[in-house]
Amino acid sequence: MKLKVLFDKDSQDPRYASGWGLAYLLDGRLLFDTGEKGEYLLENLRVLQIDAARVEMIVISHAHWDHTGGLSAFLDLHRHASVAGCAEAENLLSLPSGTRFVPVTEGQELIPGVWTSGCLTTRYHDAPLAEQALFVKTGSGIAVLSGCAHPGILSFVELARHCFPEEPLTFVGGGFHLINRDPREIRYIADKMKQMGVQRVGPSHCSGYEAFEIFQQVFGSDCVRLKVGKEVEV
Ligand SMILES: [Fe+2]
Ligand SMILES: [Fe+2]
Repeated sequence: MKLKVLFDKDSQDPRYASGWGLAYLLDGRLLFDTGEKGEYLLENLRVLQIDAARVEMIVISHAHWDHTGGLSAFLDLHRHASVAGCAEAENLLSLPSGTRFVPVTEGQELIPGVWTSGCLTTRYHDAPLAEQALFVKTGSGIAVLSGCAHPGILSFVELARHCFPEEPLTFVGGGFHLINRDPREIRYIADKMKQMGVQRVGPSHCSGYEAFEIFQQVFGSDCVRLKVGKEVEV
């Protein structure tokens, strides 16, 4: 399945807007998160010549501004798309009236070949926070896509292993939430993923550049940079 990077902090081309947050397009029809701002998302969709009318569903990993910032601007133009999120997030999303909100349930297939991890709950700045990742059926296994991974990227990878025990884990990408973490802890996480059989990784957004380098030491050329405009087969 094709993953197109619509927004992140690094860009393949200066024409593409970049910044804080993340937005990925899967198979041309599922938008995973919306970055920090509507104008950036819409501009990148235009410059990348993406037919946004094909997007059927927007999956919001968690209700933080850098993942929901483009949501209302996108829905203003494409009201037919449904929004799938953790039930706890609905009131925080300020959805335009008429939007169909789908509270995800554990094991739910969102579009053919794409499942929610289910919502894991953690605490962030002294408040509860629910977050989901995506599990994507690929040609040869399962890919894990993460927004910020506040509950811990290994928690999502372990869940994927549990849900799909027979499948190789072909790719783990997105935000790993590792900025300012002890490098030894980052190395442990990278080694653990390698031991679990993860084939390729794409640490981006809040993973941080230091974590990227550590993952690169462990995964070599199988550690890919997910810059705006890049398309990867996951
Ligand atoms: Fe984030
Ligand atoms: Fe976040």
